[in-house]
Amino acid sequence: MSYETITVEQRPEPHGAVTLITLNRPQALNALNSQVLEDLIAAFGAYEADPGQLCAVLTGAGDKAFAAGADIKEMADKPAADFYLDDFFARWTSHLVKAVRKPWIAAVNGFALGGGCELAMMADFIIASEKAKFGQPEIKLGVAPGMGGSQRLTRAVGKAKAMEMCLTGRMMDAAEAERSGLVARVVSHESLLDEALRTAAAIAAMPPMAAIANKEMVNAAFETTLDQGLIVERRIFQILAASEDKAEGMAAFIEKREGQWKGR
Ligand code: HXC
Repeated sequence: MSYETITVEQRPEPHGAVTLITLNRPQALNALNSQVLEDLIAAFGAYEADPGQLCAVLTGAGDKAFAAGADIKEMADKPAADFYLDDFFARWTSHLVKAVRKPWIAAVNGFALGGGCELAMMADFIIASEKAKFGQPEIKLGVAPGMGGSQRLTRAVGKAKAMEMCLTGRMMDAAEAERSGLVARVVSHESLLDEALRTAAAIAAMPPMAAIANKEMVNAAFETTLDQGLIVERRIFQILAASEDKAEGMAAFIEKREGQWKGR
């Protein structure tokens, strides 16, 4: 399948097949317009449906930006009623977060601003280049985050930094983002894609049910109380205990060999 605004490759990394999705509007710093959303929905849908793929990486083309935000030129003349009636931005979360049970990583290679920062935060985790910059500068446009920035950024870095960033539009550099818990790891700019693909391949080599289950459990921590989250964790653990891959994984450990996963 070919796309207008992104590229998609299935990469046969040494330890597991990985889907690499690249935002490809470098002349507009990969700004997120409606076509990007349609393309990402199709690409993530295909990734989710492909039993041969267990981890994806999303990055931005060019040296400068992961994504500099929702496309301001597309939004500038849009009437407020259209934003409301279309429930503008709702499909990002429903199709890229809720509908994708398999893991995916954002490899942030430069500016991740506004919707770009919000898109990165939809990933299961972020690996950042040392040149990455994160921000929610929407206030300077007379608006506010619309794809989860006020909620996901606050959960990731806490109220003080999230409030300061939303109210001033200040950007956070990669080192501060790592210190604050927004990104899992910062790597050199040159090694970003290799590191992200290597990490994705390591995940892709895991027993598939366990990978999906681990993601589901951690996400439950954002949606529930501690007591309910602990119940979710135990129930999922108990379901995994009945899987063929659990029997294989434990046997492989005892027999000092690599596990051969069935995905069941
Ligand atoms: C459309 C964008 C864009 C964007 C950059 N471009 N960001 N186009 N939407 N979000 C375009 C520029 O217009 C320009 O096109 C080209 O990309 C290169 O950008 P420059 O500004 O020339 O680059 P530079 O001087 O290096 O500055 C980089 C930058 C700046 C600091 C990232 O581009 C910037 O501030 N961009 C906007 C960031 C932003 O406000 N993001 C939040 C958007 S609102 P031309 O054709 O001139 O070469 C959002 C959610 C809104 O995300 C929710 C509200 C409902």
